[in-house]
Amino acid sequence: MSAWSEEFQRRQAEAEQAVQRFLPKSAALQRTLADASCYSVEAGGKRIRPLLMKAVYDSFGGRERGMEAFMAAMEMIHSSSLVHDDLPCIDNDELRRGRPSVWKKFGFDIAVLAGDNLEIEAFHAAAQSVQEGVDPARAMAALDILARKSATEGMLGGQSVDVELTGKPLSREQLRFIYEKKTGALLEASMMIGCALAGGSREEIEACEKIGSLTGLAFQIRDDILDVTSSEQELGKPIGSDEKNGKTTWVSLYGLQKAETDVDAFSREAVERMRRLRPEDTFLPGLIAALAERKH
Ligand code: IPE
Ligand code: IPE
Ligand code: MG
Ligand code: MG
Ligand code: MG
Repeated sequence: MSAWSEEFQRRQAEAEQAVQRFLPKSAALQRTLADASCYSVEAGGKRIRPLLMKAVYDSFGGRERGMEAFMAAMEMIHSSSLVHDDLPCIDNDELRRGRPSVWKKFGFDIAVLAGDNLEIEAFHAAAQSVQEGVDPARAMAALDILARKSATEGMLGGQSVDVELTGKPLSREQLRFIYEKKTGALLEASMMIGCALAGGSREEIEACEKIGSLTGLAFQIRDDILDVTSSEQELGKPIGSDEKNGKTTWVSLYGLQKAETDVDAFSREAVERMRRLRPEDTFLPGLIAALAERKH
């Protein structure tokens, strides 16, 4: 195994531990809510967003263990988006992370509540960062990014436009807008928060935002490609979901070949910008490239 792959695995395990540390637990009457929330997160997942956040944090010289609270928060917001995305009223998918989706396992009602719960528990976790040594002003700046990139101007904004325009003809600008928000926003936030918590400047945080956006575009186009070319077993989620739902995707609009070329172009630009931002960093450029080339 290459040194880079070893580092990737070490960082993935580190992200996993951080996520586990902040998951909601309850043995009381509301334990179904806690169980459903944990079920969705614990089913696995690549933990790309917390991993990316920590890699940027390390690159900018961050040292506080308390930043792990933001790693967990990010994965909780991301998992909430998947719980809601799979609901019958959105993408109506029955498999996620290799297991029945939360609504299949716990019912629609609990799935809606578990998604809501994870969104709020994310901020509960993030608030713990200060008790674990994160500077309060930096934590507040990170909270601002987390909220902004998750809500109206971010992931949920993108999901809402995705839902509203399903089955309607979409312009290329509209499609790009959806991808930049529904997927790009959380990748932007992951990098920006890593930078902000480590004390990066405004310019550096903005550079992370741009790199995250390009990485997100490549990531979502790859997701569209895999929805057509991969298998349920490999992905741990259904294939053909986009066609079933009448979605316009990068693949349906431009064809597979151009989709591949565009993934490559967006990802290369992100890698180049990353190299310029952190010339000494040997892990992050490889990570951005690996996300674009992923098989699941
Ligand atoms: C899936 O994200 C949803 C998209 C934004 C494409 P991931 O591919 O990161 O899913 P997990 O977390 O590994 O399950
Ligand atoms: C993902 O879009 C965006 C989210 C915020 C969940 P998709 O609907 O394509 O994601 P998958 O393919 O179900 O993971
Ligand atoms: Mg969707
Ligand atoms: Mg979906
Ligand atoms: Mg998809």
